[in-house]
Amino acid sequence: MSSFKEKIDKTNLPKHIAVIMDGNGRWAQERGFDRIFGHQNGVTSVRETTETAAEIGIQYLTLYAFSTENWSRPQEEVDALMELLIDTIEKETPTLDKNNVRLMAIGDLSRLPGNASEKLQRCIAKTSQNTGLSLVLALSYSSRWEITNALKMICTEVMAGNYSTDEINEELISNHMTTKSIPDPDLLIRTSGEERISNFLLWQLAYTELYFTKIHWPAFRKENLYEAIYEFQQRERRFGK
Ligand code: FPP
Repeated sequence: MSSFKEKIDKTNLPKHIAVIMDGNGRWAQERGFDRIFGHQNGVTSVRETTETAAEIGIQYLTLYAFSTENWSRPQEEVDALMELLIDTIEKETPTLDKNNVRLMAIGDLSRLPGNASEKLQRCIAKTSQNTGLSLVLALSYSSRWEITNALKMICTEVMAGNYSTDEINEELISNHMTTKSIPDPDLLIRTSGEERISNFLLWQLAYTELYFTKIHWPAFRKENLYEAIYEFQQRERRFGK
């Protein structure tokens, strides 16, 4: 059986792929382990997905790593997840840098504990001149938080007389999102069989193709990414026209 890798059209790749990495907890529990084991194994899938995206020439890969809602999980899981995220980012930064990957982050980074935000900013700065794949981590991110935040900034600027309400348009709103320099996703992948957006990039997903797979995130491999891209390429995108 030929692989999806050979079937995808390299001249028609999505420019930006966003991923809701779901199912870590279930994957671990089905195997008799605790949830954090699932998150630890999810790192392998992050590595494979990032490597593949960089290899084939995807320009932006956004991963939903920690949502605003995730702060309400048991403290033990929050702490373990935060430690895993920041440790992995630090450990992988030299490899990302070597592969010309630029690391970025979106979300309410002020909520990250201790010196996590500082560590993250160091890794971002280290790779900021890279010109290959942009790997965007959504950390302490939720779309309603982002939209609320954008509204506050716009209202403040209108009250300061920088522009009038008539000048508020889609471009201005986009420029107040945390994704301001990033094109909207072409393809959204969600793993583990849930078919929801869960407060992720609500503004930016307006015309994005949605792809759902039953595979849990820790089991997601290169071939699964190729399959999602292949499926994306079979669709006709009309952008409402
Ligand atoms: C969702 O599974 C996954 C998360 C909330 C965290 C994702 C984090 C990683 C894969 C760790 C490493 C990431 C990076 C970027 C270094 P879930 O816990 O909601 O699973 P469930 O739905 O089965 O409970």
